[in-house]
Amino acid sequence: MRVFITGANRGFALLLSLYMAEKGHRVYACYHPSLPHEETTNAAAKFSGLKVFPADVTREEDIAGAAKTILNDGGKLDAVVSVAGILADSDRELPITEVNVADLRLALDVNVTGAAIVIKHFHNAVKPGGIFITITSEGGSMTNVGTRYPAYSVSKSAENKLVAVFAKTVSDYKIYAVHPGRMNTVMGRNDAQIEPLVSVENMYRIITGEKTVPPENGWFINYLGEAMEI
Ligand SMILES: NC(=O)c1ccc[n+]([C@@H]2O[C@H](COP(=O)([O-])OP(=O)(O)OC[C@H]3O[C@@H](n4cnc5c(N)ncnc54)[C@H](OP(=O)(O)O)[C@@H]3O)[C@@H](O)[C@H]2O)c1
Repeated sequence: MRVFITGANRGFALLLSLYMAEKGHRVYACYHPSLPHEETTNAAAKFSGLKVFPADVTREEDIAGAAKTILNDGGKLDAVVSVAGILADSDRELPITEVNVADLRLALDVNVTGAAIVIKHFHNAVKPGGIFITITSEGGSMTNVGTRYPAYSVSKSAENKLVAVFAKTVSDYKIYAVHPGRMNTVMGRNDAQIEPLVSVENMYRIITGEKTVPPENGWFINYLGEAMEI
């Protein structure tokens, strides 16, 4: 398979990139150039099938350039996995009534606008019958509403809606918003229920088609392919 993955500086995206490259797939992984990315660039030296390059998902020219480079390097992809996401430290502490406005803007910029930019420039880069996954979160549910991580949750609701609209617009391939589980990563460390490798192993089965997601489960699913509460 040929797959494009965003947000591979660390965490789930980096692990998925390494997992898929190790299994012999052609992986194009992008990392945010202004944030630490040594692990990503070092990994590229180990796997011939892993091509890494800088791309900030909020910069349209970066993502447009990535799409052009990848299409010129062998044509359309089997899968896109849009992972880049942000949860600001202020959002772990402050209620919505005291929200840090700059961090709310950042959450919306990365989690919504960034994901939309990836859709805009990669929707034509997926083969018919392929798969386009945007990693969102259970925090984006409109019915299951809590008070924690308010800016992040608001942005993930909007990101879910983005995927719902995308899935209505394009029907050539499978489109999902996926909750990856509460993973033990830098972002998820406070509430972790699973190691990121568990999520990666299950997501890999969905991406490769080894695991079939029943159509009735809809567009918002978890890493096991189960329907999530919208
Ligand atoms: N962990 C959980 O429990 C959990 C639960 C539900 C949903 N999720 C979602 O799962 C995804 C992966 O999360 P994770 O736990 O692996 O988090 P993470 O370790 O913080 O990884 C997020 C990745 O996105 C990158 N990123 C941030 N801003 C970016 C930008 N503008 N352009 C490109 N890349 C950017 C980060 O780079 P830096 O490392 O340099 O910041 C990082 O590599 C996220 O979308 C998250 O919202 C996670």
